[in-house]
Amino acid sequence: MKRVSIDKLEPGIELGKDLYTFDGQLLLAKGTVVTERHLERAINLGIQYLYILEPSGEVVRREDFETMYRRGLDAIKSCFLEVKLGKPLQEEEIVGLVETLVEQVLDEANIFRQLRLMRDKDEYLFTHSLNVAALSILTAKWLKCDAETIREAGIAGILHDMGKVFIPQEILNKPGPLTPDEFEEVKKHPLSGYNLVLEYDWVAPAVAEAVLKHHERLDGSGYPAGLTGDRIGFIARLVMVVDIYDAMTSDRVYASKQTPYKAADELWDESFGKVDPKVSKVFYDRVADSFVGQRVLLSNGEIGEVVLVNRSCPTRPLVLAGDKFYDLSMESDIRVERILD
Ligand SMILES: [Fe+2]
Repeated sequence: MKRVSIDKLEPGIELGKDLYTFDGQLLLAKGTVVTERHLERAINLGIQYLYILEPSGEVVRREDFETMYRRGLDAIKSCFLEVKLGKPLQEEEIVGLVETLVEQVLDEANIFRQLRLMRDKDEYLFTHSLNVAALSILTAKWLKCDAETIREAGIAGILHDMGKVFIPQEILNKPGPLTPDEFEEVKKHPLSGYNLVLEYDWVAPAVAEAVLKHHERLDGSGYPAGLTGDRIGFIARLVMVVDIYDAMTSDRVYASKQTPYKAADELWDESFGKVDPKVSKVFYDRVADSFVGQRVLLSNGEIGEVVLVNRSCPTRPLVLAGDKFYDLSMESDIRVERILD
């Protein structure tokens, strides 16, 4: 099977794998002989590549999530390190990675669980950038954004913390609270990242804006400029929510990770006034959905399995431990202590 740019294809070729729209609808099944009309429709939907069968008919399996993730991490690492050395930001690497991510993320049944298994605190800047890209793509899809916005959300995710390459390592990796001076240094990264991406015309204005404003908050309490909501665009709002979630659920050098439930709860609390409630609501609901079937440790010491999400209270699910059901929406003194991988 090979991946071919859609504008190079002629009608009559056979599809090598199912083709989905950006909102997850099956457009054409694997094996379909593509007509002129199919191609037109795919182009109108913003699809850029198709997988076609080689003449032998042999289908090459797409790489698994872990391989793609490791490769993505290497790409981000080399791009960031090159920028640090004063070399140009590689458009091909970044855009290629986002295209792969868009395909993988839309195919992946449970990206939250996958991402939990892939963390590495020593490489936090790179894993965080990749995770924020994957989750921004997914969140944009849940919010029914068009193909271009989904792609921009992915690029913004990768680039949002790029300015951190200019922060001294001893501050970035400090295993404790920062001094006020050190925090001032960290607070420079949105502006230095923004100045950097402005040099490239392939970085869309909405993406550059997200790099600059992902630490702003809608009530004006963020940095670097203390802007209020009316000055903060959609992609910046989206990356803002995903950035908070990924930071809270990661092991960092200065803080241990929290459960996705606790992170989603905090995110929800923050949403009153600080982050976009439409974005955080979608996130809050989907995080809860994705942990159904997961083994968890409860705060009473029992191990159980999440069996059902309470719609009115998504982060307090129904858990089956042994032969006993715990409805955490009713049992306020018991919570999910840890997700067991
Ligand atoms: Fe940041």
